[in-house]
Amino acid sequence: MTATGAASAAARKAVAILISGRGSNMAALIDAAAAAGYPARIALVISNRANAEGLAEARAKGIATAVIESKGRDRAAFDAELDARLKQDGIEIVCLAGFMRLLTPGFVQGWQGRMINIHPSLLPAFKGLDVHRRVVEAGAKITGCTVHFVVPEMDDGPIIAQAAVPVPDGATPDDVAAAVLAQEHVIYPAALRWLAEGKLAVSGNSVTMRGAGSAEGALISPRP
Ligand code: GRF
Repeated sequence: MTATGAASAAARKAVAILISGRGSNMAALIDAAAAAGYPARIALVISNRANAEGLAEARAKGIATAVIESKGRDRAAFDAELDARLKQDGIEIVCLAGFMRLLTPGFVQGWQGRMINIHPSLLPAFKGLDVHRRVVEAGAKITGCTVHFVVPEMDDGPIIAQAAVPVPDGATPDDVAAAVLAQEHVIYPAALRWLAEGKLAVSGNSVTMRGAGSAEGALISPRP
């Protein structure tokens, strides 16, 4: 590695990804961070479930993993162990990626501004679980996904990026999930890049991104 390469590697933000299951967003973040010039490195993947499928994929991609089992554990004790591990490993940014465990307000406040999440709807619509079934049942014509800063309230917090996708006639929840997931894998690495580059400024609920280009046009569904 050249001196310049060594310096830029050192400047890359150390990121931990927290998962509970499949880990496709985790994989998208790991792959993005492997690219030259990406401003963050995935230092650790932590699962609260030993059987999370994403753990094997993280290991296969050469990323350190840890399991902090949450089942039956007191929230405060779990969060304290998690916090200690993140600090021990020098983690600077935490990405929640399908992490199915509520975090205590104290933990969240300790990482405020440095912890982000992805949710498979256009927040503030469709918070919570089973989103795509509820989207289809509601007859929504457009849905999408959101990357946001984590605050103590679930699926809330300043929005960094969103992607919208149409819900075609007859689409099943699985169809919608697949279309949304493809966009999750685009906006999550982008949002992490901006955060790691220090480009995001938060004011109340609003996040502004320095140097952002405005998206143009409109997604209209169905097409007129
Ligand atoms: C994604 O849909 C994400 O938006 C939600 O949980 C799901 C996790 O999927 N928070 P994966 O584990 O990243 O594949």
